Amino acid sequence: MPMIRECIVTTVGAGGSAHIAPLGLIEEGGEWIVAPFRPSATLTNLEAGSAATASFVDDVRIFAGCVTGEKNWPLTILSDWPVPRLSAALSHAELEVTRISPDETRPRFHCRARRIVQHGPFLGFNRAQAAVVEAAILATRLALLPREKIEREIDYLKIAIDKTAGVAEREAWDTVMSKIRAHLSQPV
Ligand SMILES: Cc1cc2nc3c(=O)[nH]c(=O)nc-3n(C[C@H](O)[C@H](O)[C@H](O)COP(=O)(O)O)c2cc1C
Repeated sequence: MPMIRECIVTTVGAGGSAHIAPLGLIEEGGEWIVAPFRPSATLTNLEAGSAATASFVDDVRIFAGCVTGEKNWPLTILSDWPVPRLSAALSHAELEVTRISPDETRPRFHCRARRIVQHGPFLGFNRAQAAVVEAAILATRLALLPREKIEREIDYLKIAIDKTAGVAEREAWDTVMSKIRAHLSQPV
């Protein structure tokens, strides 16, 4: 089974504007694979541009913001690479698309990591951060999931928030929960 690393992927559109999206970067057989479902701006940009930057962050407010429409996170231009990284990245990987596995639903962009650079210290695992990432994924799949499953997962994830969250994690959790609550409050 491949390992999947949850990160923020930056790509650049035809007009030159940067686009960010949380994506699971698949690490398999020495390759890094970006696999966006259609339709996706990341997919369009990768087809046109063949370059992406993966930012690895511990500020989960960025994941929460991205899934609730706040994508205006500071970016840092890179020397010698056309796609910026998140300024908050603890590390980033510069990904060059080497081949594409076409697919109607979810093409796979196979990449070579030409450079991986560290910017800040990794300060250990935190359960609340993992819980926010799980809730953020849940928030992108609300229309596909039964109400009971959403409520059950939130109840479980909240335990880690209550026990282990810092200020940033609580803020991120509240952001994601505002979207999930709005969905759950709709009449069935
Ligand atoms: C942690 C996390 C991982 C995700 N991984 C994927 C992924 O691997 N593929 C995908 O299509 N969407 C994934 N999503 C949902 C995308 O972020 C979302 O659909 C996004 O808008 C992509 O579309 P875009 O490229 O148009 O921005 C993920 C979301 C989260 C929060």
